Amino acid sequence: MLKRTLGLAFLIGGLLAGLAQETGLGDYKTRLVRYATVDRVDGLIRDLYVAPEGLEAVRKGQPLPPGTVVLVDLHQAKPNGRGGFVREGGFFVRASDEPYVHTMTRLEGQDSLTSWRFGAFDPRTGELEPGAEVPGDCLECHRTALTTEMLFSYPQLQAFARSGEVQRSFCKQPGRQLC
Ligand code: HEC
Repeated sequence: MLKRTLGLAFLIGGLLAGLAQETGLGDYKTRLVRYATVDRVDGLIRDLYVAPEGLEAVRKGQPLPPGTVVLVDLHQAKPNGRGGFVREGGFFVRASDEPYVHTMTRLEGQDSLTSWRFGAFDPRTGELEPGAEVPGDCLECHRTALTTEMLFSYPQLQAFARSGEVQRSFCKQPGRQLC
């Protein structure tokens, strides 16, 4: 009984700590580390960030520890007036930064299918992204990356951990289809 009560207390404590951490992500550009950027044919640019302790774990070949936040910051590319987008040095020029970010936060637990919490919100205010359902389709899609801790960009994360160079790629698929 005591064990169960303690377990529950830890669970609730963990959830609250997680919430506090996520709503305190207004400074994510300095608190987290950008490891990759994906430009997509539809003119969406995604900057991918990870918490320093997660990066350290990847460097050591260990699983991402509980509390690790991984974040996607979406931008629109600048249209070139001919149906495409302006590029500089091969990469899209940014026109705007979308207010909402998508996050995955590692929870306690061995089962990687259920040990992430998904979030879609404005990091400055904590306001939820209208229309986004979590975990909903986030989980449906991300579970296909089960072999890489449910992260699609795990190879980029590993490459960044090795080289320290932000991994840039161009994807010919629109939306969030696999590249
Ligand atoms: C249809 C598939 C799909 C859905 C639905 C989806 N994602 Fe993703 N997500 C991706 C892909 C693919 C990437 C890798 C970046 C890229 O290629 O644009 C990604 C990247 C991420 C990352 C960076 C870590 C990683 O896996 O590479 C986070 C965090 C994330 N998504 C959160 C979310 C959240 C939160 C939702 C729901 C609101 C969501 N995703 C819905 C496909 C999806």
